[in-house]
Amino acid sequence: MRQVHICEVGPRDGLQNAKQLMPTEVKKAWVSALAAAGLTEIEVGSFVPPKLIPAMADTEEIVRHAIAIPGIKVVALAPNVKGFERARAAGAHKVTFPVSASYQHSVSNVRMTPDQMVEEVRRAAALAGKDGPEIEGAISTAFGCTLQGEVPEDEVVRLAVALAEFCGGVALADTVGYANPAQVRRIFRRVKSEIGDKLEGAHFHNTRGLGLANALAAYEEGVRHFDSSMGGLGGCPFAPGASGNVITEDLVFMFESMGLATGIDFDRLLAARQIMISGVPQEPVYGHMALAGLPKGFRAAA
Ligand code: COA
Ligand code: ZN
Repeated sequence: MRQVHICEVGPRDGLQNAKQLMPTEVKKAWVSALAAAGLTEIEVGSFVPPKLIPAMADTEEIVRHAIAIPGIKVVALAPNVKGFERARAAGAHKVTFPVSASYQHSVSNVRMTPDQMVEEVRRAAALAGKDGPEIEGAISTAFGCTLQGEVPEDEVVRLAVALAEFCGGVALADTVGYANPAQVRRIFRRVKSEIGDKLEGAHFHNTRGLGLANALAAYEEGVRHFDSSMGGLGGCPFAPGASGNVITEDLVFMFESMGLATGIDFDRLLAARQIMISGVPQEPVYGHMALAGLPKGFRAAA
């Protein structure tokens, strides 16, 4: 039984910020390899205007490929109702909306204020109804912003409360890698005291090396759903200075070595990593575990 749930966001967060385009056929093979490694939730792309992010132009095709793989939850990001409609038509199981707590990042990223974005998500949730895809409100720049600097914690709490009214789950995202573990504990605790179990996911970037420490801090506050990216790809093209997510391979190792089952097989994960590298060979990839390998005598969590 999985004690910690990891959602691989590389095909979306990773590739949206890559300089190279991954060929569609490689993306499909990568998604299949991720599923074979035991990832049961994969964010496979985003439904944004293809002109804005050409790397996401084939998301329809990738979603259709992914939903044919048994046993995985196929997630797509959408920035507006139009993106939601595309995601629903393609058959995505879950749609994530980025709602920035930083006013400046919100306007830069989705050309809407945070409150306009909340209303956009509300409309999508109404369209989804009971039978449509799950809706997640992901509060981006929840721990600080490269455009605006400080992001008021009260604003994070206010948006979380607003989104919890109609979203299936709410996640907190450190889009630009500003968070530290004390801040993570404080803000997750505050939001949880307001919206309880609706606070589901944590999305950390490793820009300043604190991705794993922040994930552990969130775990200690009761979080059991984490986003991460294979090889540490990732970053928001509309947040200057944003770089890769917390690294999937290292996050899996941290939890498994603590005795917390992720359901993910390390060797198969490395096989998926090779496919990813073959698709964007010029992209820098990171990760301690892929370099060092498992410790002698290592036992995965039962
Ligand atoms: N998918 C495809 N096309 C879309 C679209 C979507 N989700 N949303 C809008 N469009 C099209 C419109 O139909 C319109 O097309 P036209 O020029 O042919 O008429 C055009 O894009 C402009 O539409 P508009 O509603 O004015 O959008 P905008 O230019 O104000 O941009 C967003 C707003 C939200 C679409 C854009 O800022 C965006 O996609 N942001 C997300 C960025 C991102 O992915 N960040 C990283 C992840 S957090
Ligand atoms: Zn991200």
